Amino acid sequence: MTVTIVGSQLGDEGKGRVVDLYGAAADVVARYQGGDNAGHTVVEGGNEYKLSLVPSGVVRGKVGVLGNGCVVNPDTLFDEIDTLRERGLDPDVRLARRAHVILPYHRVLDGIEEDVKSDSDRKVGTTGRGIGPTYEDKAGRRGIRVGDLLDSELLREKLEYVVPQKRALAEKVYGVSMSEAIGGSSDESDGVETGEAFDVDALHEQYERYGERLKEENMTVEAGEFLSSRLDAGDEVIFEGAQGTLIDIDHGNYPYVTSSNPTAGGAATGTGLSPGVIGDGDIIGIVKAYLTRVGSGPLPTELGGVVGDTPDYDEQGAGENEDLAEYIREEGGEYGTVTGRPRRVAWLDMPMLRHAARASGFTGLAVNHIDVLAGLDEVKVGYSYDVDGEEIFTIPATTERWGRCEPNFRSFDGWPEVDWSEVADEGYDAIPENAQTYLEYISDELDAPIYAVGIGPSREDTVVLEHPFE
Ligand code: GDP
Ligand code: IMO
Ligand code: MG
Repeated sequence: MTVTIVGSQLGDEGKGRVVDLYGAAADVVARYQGGDNAGHTVVEGGNEYKLSLVPSGVVRGKVGVLGNGCVVNPDTLFDEIDTLRERGLDPDVRLARRAHVILPYHRVLDGIEEDVKSDSDRKVGTTGRGIGPTYEDKAGRRGIRVGDLLDSELLREKLEYVVPQKRALAEKVYGVSMSEAIGGSSDESDGVETGEAFDVDALHEQYERYGERLKEENMTVEAGEFLSSRLDAGDEVIFEGAQGTLIDIDHGNYPYVTSSNPTAGGAATGTGLSPGVIGDGDIIGIVKAYLTRVGSGPLPTELGGVVGDTPDYDEQGAGENEDLAEYIREEGGEYGTVTGRPRRVAWLDMPMLRHAARASGFTGLAVNHIDVLAGLDEVKVGYSYDVDGEEIFTIPATTERWGRCEPNFRSFDGWPEVDWSEVADEGYDAIPENAQTYLEYISDELDAPIYAVGIGPSREDTVVLEHPFE
């Protein structure tokens, strides 16, 4: 039995906490895409874990897999594993030998390209982790994979081919001198001195060492075989999506997207299991009861923008309701897990959720953060859009058209602040009635039952209606 966890919006819906919730009954938790751009929070017994690569099942001691669809920065991974060990956990993480490796030059190039784009308002607002450039190299058939780290000579050969190209790209295409490029690298945690980001010898030495550690700790696998043998043995497996549907490279608002497929199809291609295996299991859409976004791009139901973040789309409502946005941002702690950036805040967007439900085929929903909205008089939902003289009910394929969409809102009566720990003890019926009405509206619209409701950040702060593994 498998459960796939998919972000239905723009990331940060609370996927990590749902993986943790259902992880109690799972044996293996596998990520299928993305890299250390993800920031998944698990709060358990007063401890908060912010995980970027290690799958969230680690908090419950479950085996973690980074599938072939992931891009792995070994420096972040080992740092994270070491920090978790210091905190008393015992991470058991396996990496697909087919997964691609993020190298320091990917981060540098991510920074350079964002700088160049900011001159023309095209900046994506990436996390600066080198995600796009690494997937570019994967598609360009010049990437370095986890399996290559295990073979020193092969690694050198591949670096000798690709690194001069990257250096030329930085210097000759972007016109950046090496010292400036080096300054563009987002931080010092690349594992090599950033000055060595384009130096074959330095990279070879560092990444060969990572390969040795991977070998010593027996961390690499053929992910598809590993996962299918675990499933054959009767194990329960969770596929942990990162990011969200609207930043999916195919189904999101291109080009303001990440470079992988968070939607459920990604769980097949990103693990080496068949679509049938994914489809036989549950596919749970994770919904934040409102909507947040970090980075650029349209946000039709936006309440208030973070000034200067989205020059192209300010007319969609940014600033109009900044006080309410600010209130929700503070109540919900809506600051990026990875970058600390304040998140833009918006009302729930049903065209977005209809699009997400179609693309991934949600069999159930987990709706988080209903506690954050408690105490408001009114809660709104963008029900449809008006654009170019027509009313539409799902997301247009072009981002420019999405940017012209004006939402039509439905209003729901707010619900009071209550003692959420009592609600957690008593169950669904104790959720304030107006919040139940809101939840049931979402469920009806998406034709998928509510599996769980988040009423606070901690593991205990959930109302569980369905246990997919039971
Ligand atoms: P992910 O990337 O989808 O795993 O989500 P993040 O961890 O980036 O962001 C979700 C944030 O909301 C984290 O700080 C969580 O601890 C918190 N959170 C998750 N569910 C709830 C909820 O139901 N209520 C509240 N108040 N916070 C929640
Ligand atoms: P989790 O898994 C929210 C956004 C970035 C940027 C765009 C591209 O925690 O939900 P990238 O660095 O991936 O090239 O950036 O995608 N983004 C996320 N937003 N949550 C995430 O992950 C994100 N990962 C990337 O802000 O707009
Ligand atoms: Mg996150």
